[in-house]
Amino acid sequence: MAQEVRGVIAPGKNEPVRIETILVPDPGPGEAVVKIQACGVCHTDLHYKQGGINDDFPFLLGHEAAGVVEAVGEGVSEVAPGDFVVLNWRAVCGQCRACLRGRPQYCFNTHNAKQKMTLKDGTELSPALGIGAFAEKTLVAAGQCTKVDPAVSPAVAGLLGCGVMAGIGAAINTGGVGRGDSVAVIGCGGVGDAAIAGSRLAGAARIIAVDVDDRKLEMARGMGATHTVNSRTTDPVEAIRELTGGFGADVVIEAVGRPETYEQAFYARDLAGTVVLVGVPTPDMKIELPLLDVFGRGGALKSSWYGDCLPSRDFPMLIDLHQQGRLDLGAFVTETIGLGDVEKAFERMHAGDVLRSVVVF
Ligand SMILES: NC(=O)c1ccc[n+]([C@@H]2O[C@H](COP(=O)([O-])OP(=O)(O)OC[C@H]3O[C@@H](n4cnc5c(N)ncnc54)[C@H](O)[C@@H]3O)[C@@H](O)[C@H]2O)c1
Ligand SMILES: [Zn+2]
Ligand SMILES: [Zn+2]
Repeated sequence: MAQEVRGVIAPGKNEPVRIETILVPDPGPGEAVVKIQACGVCHTDLHYKQGGINDDFPFLLGHEAAGVVEAVGEGVSEVAPGDFVVLNWRAVCGQCRACLRGRPQYCFNTHNAKQKMTLKDGTELSPALGIGAFAEKTLVAAGQCTKVDPAVSPAVAGLLGCGVMAGIGAAINTGGVGRGDSVAVIGCGGVGDAAIAGSRLAGAARIIAVDVDDRKLEMARGMGATHTVNSRTTDPVEAIRELTGGFGADVVIEAVGRPETYEQAFYARDLAGTVVLVGVPTPDMKIELPLLDVFGRGGALKSSWYGDCLPSRDFPMLIDLHQQGRLDLGAFVTETIGLGDVEKAFERMHAGDVLRSVVVF
């Protein structure tokens, strides 16, 4: 029988979010119900609320979560009730053209729960990124549950479910940052700072953090930035070139999702360097670049979907690095909050006060 739980929904474009009673069906074949213990507030949740992703309101927000599997449906063997899991939005299908070519990190047909969670009046909800974890319990595809060591606190582990994985993966997987590279990261929120931490892990020699907010630059230093640039007062392209012998960085990671910062990234990289777009733009945004510069500067212009991660490979590995003291995941948690504080957390995110607010249950 469907269970009634409390969850945070975005009812319509730019309307304040609110707590509603959500009906969570029993898990069907291939599905799992997860009791959520913690869920971080990611900028993508705010994009959903603002109508920047699509118009499938009402959304059940939250997608950066950890919890315990409560029940599984028929045919589920990869997880069992009681397992501590991080939820992922890349449950690879194994059968699409990307999977068949051995590139499951691009899977074009990732699994979500087939059944819908609803409001009490039957209105179907669209769970953010197929997860919807600002809720006491949520229904997902079993493949969206990645088992990790339960010794790590849920508030910390859950961050791997989106922003931290996206940032670390943008540097290591998509950008291919390696020993001795110079890296610049534009936008130092949770995602950008994770790209900085990932670049440090990968052995980057120089890591330049760019943001418009000095508090964010201070946090970026703590994550491993060797240099910081406030682009409100300093031209970031000039500054990055100056800090890299006049040439530009080997890899520039854009973690804002705006045309002007993309253009900065494009011109702040060295010849044959790589730009990685991990920030998510909105449908109205456009970019115009001289085609000759696209050609003449060479290299690679890449986008990073979820850090090109494979949850089953990357989540446990990053938890290991965290436990060894080589990756301080706890540093991303600025504050823990209650389910009723999500709207306020969006305001704090907008004001630049936080890296991550994490709802704990
Ligand atoms: N590609 C993916 O898979 C993926 C996954 C998660 C999040 N994202 C996206 O990554 C982006 C960042 O997410 P977040 O949670 O870190 O957001 P956030 O709001 O915490 O951080 C954004 C940062 O960018 C800075 N910023 C804003 N305008 C700037 C500018 N003009 N120049 C330099 N810095 C500027 C802000 O001060 C802030 O520090 C969002 O667009 C989000 O949707 C992408
Ligand atoms: Zn696939
Ligand atoms: Zn996210």
